[in-house]
Amino acid sequence: MKELTVEIKKLKKEKEAVIYAHNYQIDEVQEIADFVGDSLELARRASETQAKVIVLCGVYFMAETAAILNPNKKVLLPDIHSGCPLADMIDAERLKTLKSQNPDIPVVCYVNSSAEVKAESDIACTSSNTVKVVESLKSESVLFVPDRNLGRYIQERTSKKMLIWDGFCPTHDRVTPEEVKLAKAEHPSSLFVAHPECRPEVLRLADEITSTSGMLRFAKKSDSKEFIIGTEMGLIYRLKKENPEKKFYLASQKLICPNMKRNDLHKIYSSLRTMTPQISVEESVRIKAVSSIEKMLAVKSDYD
Ligand code: 13P
Repeated sequence: MKELTVEIKKLKKEKEAVIYAHNYQIDEVQEIADFVGDSLELARRASETQAKVIVLCGVYFMAETAAILNPNKKVLLPDIHSGCPLADMIDAERLKTLKSQNPDIPVVCYVNSSAEVKAESDIACTSSNTVKVVESLKSESVLFVPDRNLGRYIQERTSKKMLIWDGFCPTHDRVTPEEVKLAKAEHPSSLFVAHPECRPEVLRLADEITSTSGMLRFAKKSDSKEFIIGTEMGLIYRLKKENPEKKFYLASQKLICPNMKRNDLHKIYSSLRTMTPQISVEESVRIKAVSSIEKMLAVKSDYD
């Protein structure tokens, strides 16, 4: 593994590449990355980098977002099969039908969506700025796709009328309130921190609801020494690394996203060597999608 790390670093220099990883990636991928962050931070980084090649270790829509922002750079996704089932729960055709049934209502799409869906949307959002994005719109009604749990979370924090698509993240939606109550009973001094992709009945038990990087910030500044974590297990690595004196427990052992676990050092090495699999977006789609993403980037996050 040490040899592989050396080879990746050599190739990275040669190709003028950067490696960006999502907070859910496996430990060694996080370790080799130049930057590890949540969806909004990854998009921001991708919009700022001077590198010629971006190796995006995350799921497909994250690499696609980097490609939309960087038509003249190579964007690589080490495992082309790292998809997002939530993003696949809506497509451009179904969104067009929804829009025709609800004319003149702006569409906010969660960044966990395809380039084609972003192209059909007015603005994108991530879990770091979702309420601020919805509030930034003049309209009193908003179509929100594709995550129903995130949509309901926003609805409870805005006076706007939300028309919400019925999608969900299978990993977060699996967590039950019973599991959280059990974890709380086992670790009574813990605070429960949940991702807004969890179900409303789970979110009602939370002391804090935030994005993955929001959780890192919360854990660092909190006086509490123990936390129950309601998001994908990959985040635990950074939480422990950055807070060695604190304890972190997963709210449910089911909190694992198989797609996020597909990238590894061998695949990063191979993608840098062969410059594949490369992610690109057809220009007519990209031009429309980039507008949704740039508008999203102009809205502050909850932790700015
Ligand atoms: P964050 O933006 O909070 O990192 O969320 C990413 C994601 O896909 C959650 O399932």
